[in-house]
This record gives sequence, structure tokens and C-alpha cells, in this order.
Amino acid sequence: MGEAILSRLLAVSLYSPAQVAACHPRSERRSVLQTRYGIKPVSTIAELPPCEILLLAVKPQQFDSIKGELATITTDLVVSVMAGVTLSSLAAVFPHLPLVRAMPNTPVQVGAGMTAFACNEQVTEEKRRQVQSLLQAVGEAVEVPEKYLNAVTAVAGSGPAYLAIVLEALIDGGVMMGLPRHLAFTLAVQTMLGTAQYLKTTNTDPACLKSQVASPGGTTIAGIYALEYHGLRSALMAAVEAATKRAQALDSSP
Ligand SMILES: NC(=O)c1ccc[n+]([C@@H]2O[C@H](COP(=O)([O-])OP(=O)(O)OC[C@H]3O[C@@H](n4cnc5c(N)ncnc54)[C@H](OP(=O)(O)O)[C@@H]3O)[C@@H](O)[C@H]2O)c1
Repeated sequence: MGEAILSRLLAVSLYSPAQVAACHPRSERRSVLQTRYGIKPVSTIAELPPCEILLLAVKPQQFDSIKGELATITTDLVVSVMAGVTLSSLAAVFPHLPLVRAMPNTPVQVGAGMTAFACNEQVTEEKRRQVQSLLQAVGEAVEVPEKYLNAVTAVAGSGPAYLAIVLEALIDGGVMMGLPRHLAFTLAVQTMLGTAQYLKTTNTDPACLKSQVASPGGTTIAGIYALEYHGLRSALMAAVEAATKRAQALDSSP
């Protein structure tokens, strides 16, 4: 996730390689980052220079072991993408600093991510704008109250996995009906992309689009009946409920 964000920040020229410092403990990863992005990563947190924004993208379980080192960093703003690490947990390490807890998703890797973020009280309007432009480099970004972040995780963080399963099933259905798999893949993926693009561009309620496509006595309504009979709608709603509960259980506090 850290590399995905870094690569997009450089690709859209929000920062130049000379303006970015990075830290990675493994030499092979440092070499890869240096070759790919022209930056010079350091091996320890202590070597990081003072910075405007510190982006924290280690695993939540790795965060515990580096808290002491992180507390020594000089920065104006901390942006964490660590799942389940609350603003109050971050404040225990970075007292009095402006803090942002962000939840990006996998499509950030292609600049089409959806990131929701929550700020603590120290984040000024100017810093909010800075965070917004940082996160918009990897897709859409929206500020939310921290209490929404577990449901955000369930919808947007886990969403790519749910939609991948829906796509996989659509492709398998096409294969079952005699389509070559590569053709079924092209049809299903472009249909999902186009549907999302249409809904977003025209700001159409999905229920309206469904009604437009489903003509009386036609093929689509026959398919919709099968979807309702087999519980696709309730399965997806139950998935969001289960993921939200799991995110709540994983939320850390100091
Ligand atoms: N992947 C997603 O779609 C996604 C979505 C939302 C949020 N996130 C959050 O993003 C964070 C990273 O996730 P990820 O999937 O990118 O995991 P990841 O591939 O394991 O990335 C974490 C990286 O941090 C490195 N690291 C460990 N200790 C470090 C240290 N002291 N200094 C600098 N780097 C250090 C790790 O090195 P090693 O490989 O040597 O351990 C690893 O390369 C997590 O907190 C996760 O909750 C991820």
C-alpha cells in the first residue's frame, strides 16, 4: 500500500523523488524502491529527515514494535493507513500532532482507489486540503467521522473482494453457457466497469438502472428473479455486516 501511494504521488507529480524520503528495513526492497522511483530509502526510522507529512503504512502488528522510534520523528502531520489503528492509538505515540486515519482500498494501485479518512481536532483546514490532494492522487477521497470507518472498511476496503467474487461467478456463468473464458472475462469486467461509470457519471440510483434494463417478460427480470431466489442481495448485505463487526473487533485502543 505504501508503494502504491508513493508510485501515484510521483506519477501525478504531486511530489518529485527528491521531496520524498522512505524507510524500509530490507535492503532488497530499498534497492527496488530506489530503482523504480529514483528515491533513496533509508534502513531505519532514526535516519528519516524531518518531514511535512509522515505516511505510516506498516502492518498494524508491526506498528507496536516501532512506536518508540516513531515518537522521535519530526513531522507536521501523520497520515496512517493502518487498518484498525484508531486516532486515539496514534495520539498515544504522536501527542499534540495533527493525525489522519485513512482507509484506502486495493484499486489505489491503478489510481482508482476509494479512500475515506478521519481527522483529529488538530488537523486544520489547510492540512485537510493537503491530505485531500495527497489521497486524491490515488483515486477518490472523502472525509468521514471516525465512527464510520469500520463500515467504510466493510464496503470500500473489502468491497473489491466481494465484487471480484461477483465477477468470477458471472464469468463462470458465461463459461457454463458455452462462452470461451477469455471472452466471458472481457464481457463481465467491462460490464461491471461500465455500470459503475454510468451510475457515477449520471448519479443514477442503482434501483432505477435495474428497472430500466429489466423489460416486461424479458431476460433481465428472469435473471433478477433467480438472483433474489438465491439470495445475492441478502448475502452481500450480510457480508458488509460481518466485515463491519470484524473491523470493530480489530479496532485497537491504547
Ligand atoms: N493492502 C490493502 O489493500 C490495504 C487496504 C487498506 C489498508 N491497508 C493497510 O496498509 C498497511 C500496509 O498493508 P500492505 O498490505 O501494504 O502490507 P505489506 O505489504 O506487509 O506492507 C508493509 C510493509 O512495511 C514494511 N515494514 C515493516 N517494518 C518496517 C519499518 N520499521 N519501517 C519501514 N517499513 C517497515 C514491511 O516489510 P516486511 O515485508 O519486511 O515485513 C512491508 O514491506 C497495513 O497497515 C494495512 O492495514 C492495506
